[in-house]
Amino acid sequence: MTTPQPPWPGTDDPLAPPPGCPAHGLGPGGVRRLHGPEAEADLAGLYEKLRAEHGPVAPVLLHNDVPIWVVLGHSENLHMVRTPSQYTRDSRIWRAVRDGSAGPDHPLAPVFTWQPMCSFAEGAEHQRMRGAVTGAMANIDHRGIRRYINRYTNLLLNDICQDGQADLVSRFAEHLPMMVMCHVLGMPEEYNERMVQSARDMIKGTETAIASNAYVMEVLMGLVARRRAQLEEDFTSSLIAHPAELTDDEVAAHLRLVLIASYEATANLLANVLRMVLTDPRFRAQLSGGQMTVPEAVEQSLWDEPPFSAMVGYFAKQDTQLGGQRIRAGDGLILGIAPGNVDPVVRPDLAANMRGNRSHLAFSGGPHECPGQDIGRAIADIGVDALLLRLPDVELSIDESQLRWRSTILSRHLVELPVHFAPRPPQDVMARPAPNAPRPRGDWHVSSPPVRPPAAPVPPREPADRAPAPVAGSAAPAAPKGSWQRFVTWWRG
Ligand code: HEM
Repeated sequence: MTTPQPPWPGTDDPLAPPPGCPAHGLGPGGVRRLHGPEAEADLAGLYEKLRAEHGPVAPVLLHNDVPIWVVLGHSENLHMVRTPSQYTRDSRIWRAVRDGSAGPDHPLAPVFTWQPMCSFAEGAEHQRMRGAVTGAMANIDHRGIRRYINRYTNLLLNDICQDGQADLVSRFAEHLPMMVMCHVLGMPEEYNERMVQSARDMIKGTETAIASNAYVMEVLMGLVARRRAQLEEDFTSSLIAHPAELTDDEVAAHLRLVLIASYEATANLLANVLRMVLTDPRFRAQLSGGQMTVPEAVEQSLWDEPPFSAMVGYFAKQDTQLGGQRIRAGDGLILGIAPGNVDPVVRPDLAANMRGNRSHLAFSGGPHECPGQDIGRAIADIGVDALLLRLPDVELSIDESQLRWRSTILSRHLVELPVHFAPRPPQDVMARPAPNAPRPRGDWHVSSPPVRPPAAPVPPREPADRAPAPVAGSAAPAAPKGSWQRFVTWWRG
C-alpha cells in the first residue's frame, strides 16, 4: 500500500478532497484527521484503521490540519524515545512551529510549546534539570509517603463513608494524588478544592485555564520564596538545594510539572484501577481469592488504559526511517502510548492477563522516562488497597455499559464512578500512625510484585535494540507479601 504523504506545504494532489472536507475524517491529501467526529467517536478504532493502512507509523493531521506522524508500533515507539541522537522533545525544531501552522493559538499549544524545563530539554541541559528532579525524589521519605497515602485515603473515605454512596472519581481519585503531592512538595496547607479545580482546568484547556495556571504559579512561587528563605525537609527544598542550582523560575516550573503530571495521570490511573477492580470479574474473584494483587491490577490497567494515551511529541533531528516510513528532519511524531500498548506484535490476544508485566509504554522510556512512576504506582496501589479494606462491600451503582469517558488524543478520563456500600462511621485516622521508622531513602519500589514473563510472546520486529523490553529501571524487588497483606500488618501494628 502506498502511504499518502502528509500535505506538507507545497502538496497539490489533484485527487485529494478539498481542504476541510469532512468526508470520512479525511483532510487535505487524503490524510486522516486525529480530531473531529471520527476521532472523537472512536479513537482506538481510528488507530487500528491507520495501522491496517500504513503499518506501525502513520501520517495524520492534528487540529488546524497540522501534519504529524503517529507512532502505533510498540517497538517503534520504544526506538523513538530511546534514540536521542535522532529524536528530541525540543519542539522548537518542529516544522509546524517554525512555519507558524502550530502557533500559540493551536489547541495543543500548552502541551507542545517549548518551556525551560526537563521535559523539553536534551543533552547536558536535560541532565542538569532532570538530575535535580530525580535527586529531590531520592530524598523523599518513601515510608512516610506510604503512611500519608493511607492517611489521606482514610480522610477522604471519612467524608463519604456515612453516606453509603459516592462518585469515586470526584470524591476520591481526583483528590488523593493532589493531597499526596502537595504534602511531598511541602505545601499540605495549600491543598484545597481550588488547587484540584485549577489543575483540572489547566489540563482541559477551558477558558479559565490561564487564570488557573496563574493561581497555581502564584502558590508555587510563594512556596519557592519561603523555602529559599528557609529550607525544610521536602521536595521543594531539595530542588532548591540541589547542586544543579536551578533558578527560582526553574524550580517553580518543575514543581508545576510534577504537580500537574502526577495529578492528572495518577487520578486517571486510580479511577481506571478502581473501575477494573469493580467491574472485571477476573480481578474481583482473584482479589478475594488472593491470587491477583492490586499491583498486578495496576499494571494491567497501565497496559489497557494508560493514563496518558499519547504525547505530542517527539521531533526528528535528521532524515531517518521509522516503521518503514521516511521521516524528514523537522517532522513531528506523536508518542502513541495507547496504540503501542495494543500493538498485535506484542499483544496478539488483548484479553490475555499481563500478570504484572511492566513493558508497557505508560511511562514512556529512554532519557525522558517518567521519573515519578513509583510514586504514581504507590498512590494507586495503596489508595486502592486501603479503599477496599475500609469498604469491602463496595459495588458499582450503575451498569458498566453506562460508564462514560471524556477523551482527547492525550488522555481518556472516566467521568464518574458511582458506587454504593453499607454506611459506616468515620475512623480516627490520626489514631494509629505507623511506628516512627528510620528514614531509608531513595527506594521507591514499594509494593509491586516481581516481574513475570510476558503473557504474550514478544517477537522482535526490528533489530534487537528496538525490541520491546521491560522498562528500564523498573525491575521490582521480590515482594514477600502483597501490599494488601502488608497494609493489614501495618494497620494492626
Ligand atoms: C500514573 C502516573 C504517571 C504516569 C502514567 C506518568 C507518565 C509520564 C509520561 C508518559 C511522561 C513522558 C515521558 C516522555 O517525555 O517520553 C512523564 C514524564 C514525567 N513525569 Fe510522569 N507519570 C506519572 C506520574 C508522575 C509523578 C507522580 C511524577 C512526580 C512525582 C511524575 C513526574 C514526571 C516528570 C518530572 C516527567 C518529565 C521527565 C523528563 O522529561 O525527563 N510523573 N510521565
